[in-house]
Amino acid sequence: KSRAIVAIDGPAGAGKSTVARMLAKRLGYLYIDTGAMYRALTLKALERKIDLEDEGAVTGLAEETEILLVPQDGTEIRVYCDGRDVTSAIREPEVSRQVSRVAKVPGVRARMVELQRRMAERGGIVMDGRDIGSYVLPGADYKFFLTASLEERTRRRWQELRDRGIHTDFEQLKKEMAARDAMDSRRPVAPLIKAPGALEIDTSNLEPEEVVEIILKHMEEGR
Ligand code: C5P
Repeated sequence: KSRAIVAIDGPAGAGKSTVARMLAKRLGYLYIDTGAMYRALTLKALERKIDLEDEGAVTGLAEETEILLVPQDGTEIRVYCDGRDVTSAIREPEVSRQVSRVAKVPGVRARMVELQRRMAERGGIVMDGRDIGSYVLPGADYKFFLTASLEERTRRRWQELRDRGIHTDFEQLKKEMAARDAMDSRRPVAPLIKAPGALEIDTSNLEPEEVVEIILKHMEEGR
């Protein structure tokens, strides 16, 4: 199938964005990082010192915020929030710590999902997140659910932060990752779950290239 829709979900640090990016490049598709959208809104809410428990205020903020994902050369995307480039700011640990509180607000999800569905309309996309195959694009042509042990996922995130000059305590980071997964999995609206029909891939002992090959093979077989 040409110009297909590929959904990739899973917990934090399972390798979704690396794999989705590489896969999009191989297929000549657009990569859409939905987590970046929730992160951008969270950054704005934190800067505005909005009470994250105030669902009305957070929903109002979502409705008046313009979030843009702009593909660059290759497979990089830059994230803009109200015209400001927030690509690196949204990766700060404080955003990671708070994002699930913003993402669980139903009004926030309604707005983001609407944008995500619009971006997927023409197909030829690889979209990653938590609820893409289960809720945002249930009719996706291909669905994958990436997992890895908490230890391995923490190791990856720790290294990623370190590469950016951010030194964190491993055990503390592990706790934060587990807390975020728990919150994403337990929220009432569109929680993190493996969509029916999704192929689960444990990436704990795989390189990103190997995961991409498994996905491509599965896609070829399903054609
Ligand atoms: O993918 P990433 O780790 O950047 O996602 C950040 C957070 O955004 C997740 O922990 C989750 O709370 C939220 N999210 C979501 N639904 C998505 C993608 C991300 O709720 N489709």
